[in-house]
Amino acid sequence: MDRVITIPALGDNFIYLYQYREGRALAVDPGESSRVLRVLRERRLKLGMILVTHHHGDHTAGVAELKRETGCVVGGPAARHQAGLDHSLVDGQILTAAQKPIKVIATPGHTRAAVCYYVQGSDAGRAGMLFTGDTLFVAGCGRIFECDAAAMWESLRRLARLPDDTLVYPGHDYTVENLEFALTIEPENQAVGDRLRQVRQAIAAGGNTVPSTIAQEKLTNPFLRVDSLEIREALKMSAAPAAQVFAELRRRKDVF
Ligand SMILES: [Fe+2]
Repeated sequence: MDRVITIPALGDNFIYLYQYREGRALAVDPGESSRVLRVLRERRLKLGMILVTHHHGDHTAGVAELKRETGCVVGGPAARHQAGLDHSLVDGQILTAAQKPIKVIATPGHTRAAVCYYVQGSDAGRAGMLFTGDTLFVAGCGRIFECDAAAMWESLRRLARLPDDTLVYPGHDYTVENLEFALTIEPENQAVGDRLRQVRQAIAAGGNTVPSTIAQEKLTNPFLRVDSLEIREALKMSAAPAAQVFAELRRRKDVF
């Protein structure tokens, strides 16, 4: 019964509704409320919970209205700017309201208080799911606003250690631009070119570019590939520590 509904919003945001129990959904990063309320009505789902990954308005602007309309509870990382939280969540915490445990993974980098949500897979072969906010994107990662590059690198490494088949649900659709950047850094990486073609086809057919998987990200996301010889040679950083290669990649992406 695991079902994730992807709701594109605000141009390039993704809001997710995860049906965590029969007839009940939780919303991840509702940057607006009206589309979420409409989908809830159409699917006859009750909103039980909102989980936010970080305090930015394009991930939280719908929280107050959704809470008012549905009486749901709101969880997220404790942050100075974060209003309306019922539960301040910390690293390693396990949420048990859903049929499957949801683990909170702290991922500072984009913002100081930032978390991802990991829904474990099942022994029956069902893949886990990871809601990554503005930490990990398809073929990219978030800009570093409140921390240093080393913190973001450490957060991404934690995510990359999750099982390969984990489905990745990021907070934005920057997929095409990210893959185009990846190709400039690693033009010989066939997987990047293949992925870009697949993604363009999916968009042309009216589909979304999510979810990805951890395995796909390890093959095509330059920010998880700082050990690639081609990347290191492109950056002229053959012997540099991984965190420095990551920082240089992020710097280049900022001005891409
Ligand atoms: Fe953000």
